[in-house]
Amino acid sequence: MNKKVLIICSGGDAPGMNAAIRAVVRCGIANGIQIFGAEGGYGGLVSESIIELNQKSVANCLQRGGTFLKTGRCLEFHHKNVRDKCRQFLQQQGINGLVVLGGNGSFQGAALLSSEEPTELQVIGIPCTIDNDIPGTEYTLGFDTARNTALQAIDKIRDTAFSTDRNFLIEVMGRSSGFLAVDVGIAGGAEMMLIPEFPVSLDALIHNIKHSQRHKMASIIVVAEGGKTGHSVQLAEEIKQQTGILYTVCILGHTQRGGSPTAMDRKIAALMGAEAVGAFLAGSTQTMTATRGNEITLAPFPSAEQSTEFFADKKLLELNNILCNIS
Ligand code: F6P
Repeated sequence: MNKKVLIICSGGDAPGMNAAIRAVVRCGIANGIQIFGAEGGYGGLVSESIIELNQKSVANCLQRGGTFLKTGRCLEFHHKNVRDKCRQFLQQQGINGLVVLGGNGSFQGAALLSSEEPTELQVIGIPCTIDNDIPGTEYTLGFDTARNTALQAIDKIRDTAFSTDRNFLIEVMGRSSGFLAVDVGIAGGAEMMLIPEFPVSLDALIHNIKHSQRHKMASIIVVAEGGKTGHSVQLAEEIKQQTGILYTVCILGHTQRGGSPTAMDRKIAALMGAEAVGAFLAGSTQTMTATRGNEITLAPFPSAEQSTEFFADKKLLELNNILCNIS
């Protein structure tokens, strides 16, 4: 049987996606698999907009952020009749595997596509999101680049905060998880990191701000967006009202999603791409590539209900309190 695999990027883009596509294309071709790419995520599959990818299509892309195939969130794909049409199209094209680069929602879409009817379609995921919030893998592609981008921004803000004796609330992405906030906070010497997993009441926050042992003239608090992008503006207002202390807000936003992937993201992209091809050849389905310790391995798709597991444990927050002298 001819082996044909379609690559789909879905959801938010993440640095390292291009490097992962390159690895799937080149490892796939080396193993006799014909590789295609959907243009624009699941939307590209719905509109039957797919292109064949060869060695040359992925030349000079691994250092580029984003994804050259483009990505997106496709609401139409939530409808079964649309998925039925996609399955038919894949069958007509003789495509027997999907490699989906994205997050949990993207994998759920792939799982539905492969399980609603008896079908030969194998679906393999490569976890890609700057949020690092996919249960079953310790690492998702793009996270390291995003935390380095955010860290560079914090270092720059620190220069001006110190020079002008100002306090800053810096809001970072992460959807409903605090991985990004904790890592950039500890690396950037933030006074505190406010994350959804361990909520701090406004009273406790005010207490910490007022009783910060070193009475700094300038300080930085990293705030995770926690599913409410921009909420740090309201928080700064509340702090001002209760303490009279001014915090300037800087929302790092989508700058965190772009940029050239770090060496770590490129290396893991290469390994995960190769692992995904291996999984397809071994007949796996509804599995994703994953990291456990230093190993690249496979894990089942997380269920829709599985909540985010918080790996960056509370100890990091406690250590940060010691490092920043907060009682
Ligand atoms: O999931 C990745 C992510 O960048 C989140 O951190 C952020 O909340 C969200 O996507 C932003 O999504 P959009 O692309 O819709 O602005």
